[in-house]
Amino acid sequence: MAENKRLLLGVTGGVAAYKAAEAARLLTQQGIDVTTVMTESACHFVGPATFQSLTGNPVYTDLWETNAMQNMAHINLSRTTELILIAPASADFIAKLANGLADDLLTTLCLARNCSLMIAPAMNQQMWKNPATQRNVSMLRQDGAIVIGPADGLQACGETGMGRMLEASELAEAVHSFFHMEKLFDGKRVLITAGPTFEAIDAVRGITNKSSGKMGYAVAQAATEAGASVTLISGATCLAPPPVDKLVSVTSANEMLQAVLTEIPQTDIFISVAAVADYRAAKINPQKIKKTDQHLTIDLVANPDILLTVTDLPNPPFCVGFAAETENLEQNAQTKRKKKNLPLLIANQAQDAIGADESELTLFDDAGKHSLTKAAKIEQARRLIQHIHALYSQSKPTSHEKN
Ligand code: C5P
Repeated sequence: MAENKRLLLGVTGGVAAYKAAEAARLLTQQGIDVTTVMTESACHFVGPATFQSLTGNPVYTDLWETNAMQNMAHINLSRTTELILIAPASADFIAKLANGLADDLLTTLCLARNCSLMIAPAMNQQMWKNPATQRNVSMLRQDGAIVIGPADGLQACGETGMGRMLEASELAEAVHSFFHMEKLFDGKRVLITAGPTFEAIDAVRGITNKSSGKMGYAVAQAATEAGASVTLISGATCLAPPPVDKLVSVTSANEMLQAVLTEIPQTDIFISVAAVADYRAAKINPQKIKKTDQHLTIDLVANPDILLTVTDLPNPPFCVGFAAETENLEQNAQTKRKKKNLPLLIANQAQDAIGADESELTLFDDAGKHSLTKAAKIEQARRLIQHIHALYSQSKPTSHEKN
């Protein structure tokens, strides 16, 4: 049971609205306090009275309704809920959300929310496949929305394909695991490194590793959703940072190491996602080196291994490593896991993962090897957080926690 939890159910125009009514019943039965907001089109498919009867709560449909109980409904409704579930989410509504439009009560309160957003798309299979819809869904995922479904199958229009909304029981299950996930790392302090490091050669040039920071930022987002207090130490990226407790921007591996060592005494779990450059110039030329026709030799020295430095500490936190490999994925990953003494190492193919929005991951831990089939990085990050929680709960308490 998920007692004392509040959910705002947003219903948009689609035949699948009837499944949302059943989901409202199941969620209410789980002990969740469900408030429904319907768009005008949704009301053409199912009446507000149905949701009112099933949830026992008033149903909101109009931005301009004069209602003393809900003064400023567009803000207040989202302030008193832990999650907004949009089911069904039509192609039109998804497009509005992705672009930040606010032209009715539901879009307005989604924009004004300070809670998580889950969407269950439902539309014709051709609409789902349309690049515009795919772009919008991907944008919402990048903004941290949880996208559940759609499923494949026969559609109300008679066509077959992707676009069916998940069944009511699956919606209820997704909400249940969201509320479960929300508490996983309550009170835990998680430190994450992300992005590349940049090692200057002269005033304008340097060495770096290819890394967009997308995976590390997704892990930071998922850890925050799981209730952790998150510190993100990031190399230079073009991404908007997730809503972490503390963000530390660094450039070089040495700066990243110093930032990590400062945070470690306050860390329960360290997740090292950063692509740290293995070498740096022995000497940084303060001026721009002049171009000539001659060969140029740059003397490189090895950078410190940040993760290894942490696992070698007398009382390390629970440490997780990442590895991007171009060949012999399993063998290289196992060697790194052993060398860095890690309970968990996550490996992926560098060619497929770097810069992409999706990834396929292989997890190596004491129990063996587990595969996470291709999915959006934010979804992989949520699965990883659940896996890390399971391993962390079985691990011995560190000295940080004993103190
Ligand atoms: O670069 P490599 O494949 O060895 O990276 C494996 C793990 O070690 C990653 O989690 C990475 O963040 C970490 N690492 C590090 N410092 C380095 C190199 C890698 O912390 N200098």
